[in-house]
Amino acid sequence: MAAATSHLSLCSSSSSAASLSQTQTCSFFKKEADLFSRFAAFPRKTQSSTWVRRVRPRKSFQLKFSSNGSPLNAVSLQDSGSSVAKKGLGTQEEEASSFLYSEPRKAESTLSITVVGASGDLARKKIFPALFALFYEDWLPENFCVCGYARTRMTDEELRNMISKTLTCRIDKRENCEDKMEQFLMRCFYHAGQYNSEDNFRELDMKLKEKEAGKLANRLFYLSIPPNIFVDVVRCASLRASSGDGWTRVIVEKPFGRDSESSGELTRCLKQYLAEDQIFRIDHYLGKELVENLSVLRFSNLVFEPLWSRNYIRNVQLIFSEDFGIEGRGGYFDNYGIIRDIMQNHLLQILALFAMETPVSLDAEDIRNEKVKVLRSMRPLQLDDVIVGQYKGHSKGSKSYPGYIDDPTVPKNSTTPTFAAAALFINNARWDGVPFLMKAGKALHTKRAEIRVQFRHVAGNLYRRNFGTDLDKATNELVLRVQPDEAIYLKINNKVPGLGMRLDCSDLNLLYRARYPREIPDAYERLLLDAIEGERRLFIRSDELDAAWALFTPLLKELEDKRIAPELYPYGSRGPVGAHYLAAKHNVRWGDLGSED
Ligand code: BG6
Repeated sequence: MAAATSHLSLCSSSSSAASLSQTQTCSFFKKEADLFSRFAAFPRKTQSSTWVRRVRPRKSFQLKFSSNGSPLNAVSLQDSGSSVAKKGLGTQEEEASSFLYSEPRKAESTLSITVVGASGDLARKKIFPALFALFYEDWLPENFCVCGYARTRMTDEELRNMISKTLTCRIDKRENCEDKMEQFLMRCFYHAGQYNSEDNFRELDMKLKEKEAGKLANRLFYLSIPPNIFVDVVRCASLRASSGDGWTRVIVEKPFGRDSESSGELTRCLKQYLAEDQIFRIDHYLGKELVENLSVLRFSNLVFEPLWSRNYIRNVQLIFSEDFGIEGRGGYFDNYGIIRDIMQNHLLQILALFAMETPVSLDAEDIRNEKVKVLRSMRPLQLDDVIVGQYKGHSKGSKSYPGYIDDPTVPKNSTTPTFAAAALFINNARWDGVPFLMKAGKALHTKRAEIRVQFRHVAGNLYRRNFGTDLDKATNELVLRVQPDEAIYLKINNKVPGLGMRLDCSDLNLLYRARYPREIPDAYERLLLDAIEGERRLFIRSDELDAAWALFTPLLKELEDKRIAPELYPYGSRGPVGAHYLAAKHNVRWGDLGSED
C-alpha cells in the first residue's frame, strides 16, 4: 500500500488551504447562481465541446478546456466563479479571460471526489470501480483524492479494503494492475458522518482542505444515497463543504421524484443551494456506448438521416428486459415500479435522442434544447395505450423462481408493475402517426436492451411474390443492441446464392466485439469523466425532467387511483400477452420475437 509512486502526487497532508469562512461559503452559492445567469448569456464562441475531441488530461492537463470554455484546472466560469464574483466584473468576457489566463494557481488545482453513501451497493459496484478505471487509463488529473462519506464508522484502511474487492482491470489491460490499484487506494480515504449534520460536513471540509493543501480546489460530490436525504446532503455539503475557490458540482441519481409535483419540489429544494449547472442529474443509459453512438450513426451517415422520419420509418421500438427479478430491492422498487424505474428515464431519454431534430451544434445546451422540444411535442401517455404486468412464481424442472410478491421486501397485495409496454406518439411534422413502442420488464426470458427501427415496405416491390404476401416480413429493420454484446445490424433482403430466385432476410452486422476488440468502458466512467470536465451533454437538465414527468404523471396517477391490476406473467417468460395486443392495435409486431433474435 505504501508504494505510491512519485509521479502521482498524493493529496498532501499540509493544511494551508485558502478557504472562505462559513458564512462566505454559504453566500458563495447564492452568488454562484447569479453568476451563472450572467454568464449563461455568453456568446457561443466562448464555449467548446469536448464531445468530438476529448484528449487525455494528464498529457495536456494545463491546456485542457472543458465544454464551457474554461480550462479544467482553472475556475469554471459557469460553475463557480465565486472568486470572479468577489472581484467584480468588467465586461464579462474580458474579465473572465483575464482571470482565467493570468491566474497563477491554475496549474496547482486539485480535484476531490466525495462519494456520499460510500458503503452502498451502487458506490461499491459502480462508482469506485469507474473512478479506478479512469485513474488506470490516466483520465484523472494529477492531483486528486477520493473521499467516501457515510454513517458507518470505518477507517481509511477499511474503506480501501472494501473498495479493493470490486476493483478490476480491463481484460486487455492487466499490465501493472496491482500497482495501479495500490496507487489508487492510497488516494482514497473515509469520513464518517450523518447525512443531515452540517457539523459533520464541516469536518469533511477540513479533511478535504488538508488533502487539497492550498491548491485551487474543485469538488465533486456523488450522491449515492436514497432520495429522501438528497436535500439534506446538498444543504450540508453546499453550506459547509463546497469549494471556496474552485467549482463545486453534485451528481444525483434517480429517482428524481415520483411525479411532476414531487420532482418539481426536489428541483426547487436543490436549487436553494445549487445553481442548475452545478447539478448533474445522471441517467446512466446516456453513458452507454451504443446510446452515445446513436447520434453519430444518424447525423454522420448520409444513408440514415434522410430516412429518419415518418416517410420511411413505420415504427420504433425501445426494449429493455432483465432475466432476474427485484431480489430484495422491493423497498425501493415497490414505491416506483417499472414505469418510473426504466421507462420515464432510460427509455424516454433514448427516445428523445433518437427523435430530436438536428441540434445547432454539439454543445450540451443545443442538444438538450432539441431533446426538450421533442419531449414537449409528445402526447401524454393514455391508459389504453399501456399495459402493465407483474411476474409470478414459476417452476422449471427442479428449480423454482419466486414471484414478485413472494419477495420479503414487497407487500403481499402489491399491484406495482414489474413489466409495462406503451405506445407513445410525437405530434410533430417528422413523426406524426409513427408509434414509438416501449417495453420494459423484470424477470423475463432474457437480458437485453435495444432500439429497433422498422422501415416501411418497398412500394410495388418487384420481388413481392418471393416472400409470399407478408410484406411485413420483407421490410428493413435497423437494430442497435445496447447490451449485451453491443452491435448495430441492418436487416436487408438478399438473394440466396444459387440458380433459383429465393430471397432471404440477412443482416449487415457491425458486431462490436469483432470490430473493436477493446473492452467498452462502463457508462459510469464516461459520465464521471464528463462531470469532472463540466460536459453536461449527457446529463438531464431540469426542463427535460419536467417534460418527461409531464408525459407520464397523468398515466401513473390513473394507474394508481384505479388500482389497475397488472397482468401476471411467469418468471422467465416473454411477459404478458397484452403487450402483443397493444402492438397489434398499432399495426406493429415486436421485433424481438423473430427466431434469429
Ligand atoms: C437502474 C434500475 O436504473 O438500471 C435497475 O434502477 C436496473 O432496476 C438497472 O436493473 C439496469 O441497468 P443496466 O446498466 O444493468 O442495464
